[in-house]
Amino acid sequence: MPRWTGAGAPALRRGPDMTEILKTPARWPTILLGRARAKDPRDLDEAVAAGAFAGLRRAIRDLGPTAVIATIADSGLRGRGGAGFPAGEKWRTAASTDADRRYVVANGYGADPASHTDRTLMLLDPFSVIEGTAIAAYAIGANEAFIAVRAEDADVIASLSAAIGAATDAGFVGEDVSGSGHDIHMTVRPVQGAYMLGEETVLLKALEGKRGQPEQRPPHPAESGLFDRPTLVHNVQTLAAVPWIVSEGASAFRATGTTGSPGTVLVQVRTPGGENGVAEVPLGTPLREVLGLGGELPAGRSIKAVLIGGPSGGLLPPDALDTPYDFEPLRAAGAHLGSGSVVVVDDRTDLLELVGVLTRFCSNEACGKSIPCRIGVKRLAEIVARREDGLLRPVDMELATDLATDIVASALCDHERLATLPLTSGMRYFGSDFDPARRPQPASTEAPR
Ligand SMILES: Cc1cc2nc3c(=O)[nH]c(=O)nc-3n(C[C@H](O)[C@H](O)[C@H](O)COP(=O)(O)O)c2cc1C
Ligand code: SF4
Repeated sequence: MPRWTGAGAPALRRGPDMTEILKTPARWPTILLGRARAKDPRDLDEAVAAGAFAGLRRAIRDLGPTAVIATIADSGLRGRGGAGFPAGEKWRTAASTDADRRYVVANGYGADPASHTDRTLMLLDPFSVIEGTAIAAYAIGANEAFIAVRAEDADVIASLSAAIGAATDAGFVGEDVSGSGHDIHMTVRPVQGAYMLGEETVLLKALEGKRGQPEQRPPHPAESGLFDRPTLVHNVQTLAAVPWIVSEGASAFRATGTTGSPGTVLVQVRTPGGENGVAEVPLGTPLREVLGLGGELPAGRSIKAVLIGGPSGGLLPPDALDTPYDFEPLRAAGAHLGSGSVVVVDDRTDLLELVGVLTRFCSNEACGKSIPCRIGVKRLAEIVARREDGLLRPVDMELATDLATDIVASALCDHERLATLPLTSGMRYFGSDFDPARRPQPASTEAPR
């Protein structure tokens, strides 16, 4: 049975299209999933009765574009797509860069195949993403907005398309939005490709109908993005927080999360033998509490490591569980928020085998544009494979450390920086697993879910 925050919530449909929502403490704020209990998430009347589009109305009637941007800047909202860049700065740049047209792109691609945070949000409350995107378009002076999603995700496409249709009929998007005199045409754009398509410059190329590889920055998309026009690209969670901020005020938002990282974020928690679901977590929550949402490990099993941030995430040891789930603390510990995925790795797992799988994934998904990433990450994967085959030479781990340092120093895009993390965090915290003298362990009998 699905479990919900609060009592008496209606059951949620589950199945291949839906991830379970994990129960969270009642004291935690719900900014992103506050309306996720709706019987029909596409029912506009129900959503409006629960507060949908109040933020857009306030933005237009009470604030105006400049004050909306100031509110977002004052709120301290940081991008949820991984890097945590201050949203207000991007909005100011996109609004102030001279151009005949501007765009907003909601990044709902969800590159990590194992994290369903963004699609869960788009399925359970499509109006929050639509409203946040509309407010952003109004604020920066964009008349066109795209919500980019995976082409194979028919449920998300259907949900968002129906919700945009209903919002257009009601005058919340389309021509002369809510009597503002401002047109906001919004479209769902299915895109199909590999892991790198979630990266913003690759995504923009795909939306232009071109083959994409990451671009050197600056200029950033907020200055020159889609069709060389200022483009505000945000993760769908970042945009979904916007209506709440505009309705409740910047200081109310600052009262949640931490001083440096206000607000909440969606986390996909996986525990072998326990839960696998999505939870809305205030930033700064100790990792231990985040893991607690996934329940207990089976009797006799213990935590060996926690993989945080997706396939290019970092492995942290059990004594790092007091680390706050927040951008800087996780980075300092050797991981990153990334896709919002938190996976408990139990004591049956051979970490080297796991690092091998992750590093090969990162190598296979590299787009090939820059040599240090194309060749370097492949070499790292080969070193890990030598260890798996029992052929590791003593010099190999030193080689891996040097190579990882060089790869990070020459990064063209964040993939290169992050692709080294599984190995470097593994060597940092679990040195004995990587010791060439140690025999490889047999494969685990049961894979983590
Ligand atoms: C390899 C790679 C994959 C990425 N995949 C995603 C993704 O699936 N969704 C996303 O929102 N951002 C992804 N990003 C980050 C985007 O490039 C970009 O920073 C983000 O969409 C900006 O939104 P934000 O300001 O809300 O963080 C990825 C970055 C890299 C390097
Ligand atoms: S760093 Fe890797 S993924 Fe990024 S552009 Fe270069 S080859 Fe492509």
